[in-house]
Amino acid sequence: MHKTVLLTAILAAYSLSATAQEQRQTLLLSPPQRAHVLAEMRGLLTGTQQLLSALAQDDLTAAAQHAQSLGMGMAGSAEHHLAQVLPPAFMQLGMSLHQDFDALAADTKTVKDPKYSLRQLAAALNKCNVCHDAYQISIADAPADEARLDEVAARGRHVMPFALEQTRHIFTKTPQGGIQQVIVIDKANTAQIALIQTHLSKIAAEFSRGDFSDPAKIHGDTMPGLATLRTAKPLQLKVAYQTLADGAQITYTSDHAELVAAVHQWFAAQLSDHARHAQAGHAHHH
Ligand code: HEC
Repeated sequence: MHKTVLLTAILAAYSLSATAQEQRQTLLLSPPQRAHVLAEMRGLLTGTQQLLSALAQDDLTAAAQHAQSLGMGMAGSAEHHLAQVLPPAFMQLGMSLHQDFDALAADTKTVKDPKYSLRQLAAALNKCNVCHDAYQISIADAPADEARLDEVAARGRHVMPFALEQTRHIFTKTPQGGIQQVIVIDKANTAQIALIQTHLSKIAAEFSRGDFSDPAKIHGDTMPGLATLRTAKPLQLKVAYQTLADGAQITYTSDHAELVAAVHQWFAAQLSDHARHAQAGHAHHH
C-alpha cells in the first residue's frame, strides 16, 4: 500500500489496547496483497531515511521533496481494492501519517528550521510504531480448487442476499475472537447497504443462538471451527451486530481460548473458500 496507509488510531474502534506484540490483530491478506503492503512499508523506510539524511545536512529543499513523496500523493496511487480489504482504522492511521509528511514538507518552506522538521518527523514516526504494535499480516489459506469455489459461490447466492461483486468482505482476527465486515464498494449503493445490514443482523441473531446453519449451507457442515462454535454455551461466545455507514459488521468475542481459535479457523476457511473473490478485492464471508 503505498498508498493506503497510515492512520491515526481509531484503533479504539477495535477496542484493543494494542501495545503488546501478542495483542496484535491479524490482517488476513492474499500473497499479492501482502506483498503490496510490505513494498509500501519498505518505501516508507527508504523515504524516511532520505528525509532524515537531508535534514541532518540542513538541506530543506531536498527534505521537502522527500517528505512530499511520502505524503498523500503516495497514498493516492493506492490500488482501490486494497483499501477495501484493510480495516478502516488501519487505512486512517496510514492516511494520517501521509498527511504528517505533507505538513512537514509545507513547514520547511514557512518555518524553515531543520530542527523543527526533525521534531515533526519524530512525532510522525510514532505512528509507525502505533500501527506495528497493533497489526500483523498473515496469509490467507491457499485457495480452494476452482470447482469448490464455483460451488461455494453458487450456494452463497441462495443464502446471501447481497451481490458479491458489489461488496467486500473483511475478516480481522482479534485476540478475543474476530471482526467480520461486509461493506459496499460504492458508498452510494444504498440498496446493497440495506441488504448487507438486514442479512448480517439476521445471521448475528442466529449465531447468538448457536445456529450456524446459514454458513453450513454454503460451506458444508465440516467447515473448520464450526463444530466447536456450535458447542458454545450462551454467553461463552458473544456475537455483536453493528451497523456501519457503508455496511455492517459482526464482532465475535470469547474468553475461551478454544472458541477464539475456532473463530480464527472459521475465518481462515471462509477466506480460503472465497479466495477468488478476495483476490479480486471482494472476499465475502460465509
Ligand atoms: C497503518 C499501519 C502501518 C503504519 C502507519 C506503518 N506500518 Fe510498517 N508495517 C505495517 C504492517 C501491518 C506490517 C507487517 C508486520 C507483520 O506482519 O508482522 C509492516 C511492516 C513494515 C516493514 C517490514 C517490511 C517487509 O518487507 O517485511 C517495514 C520496514 C515497515 N513496516 C516500515 C514502516 C515505517 C518506516 C513506517 C512509518 C514511517 C511504517 N512502517 C508505518 C503497518 C504499518
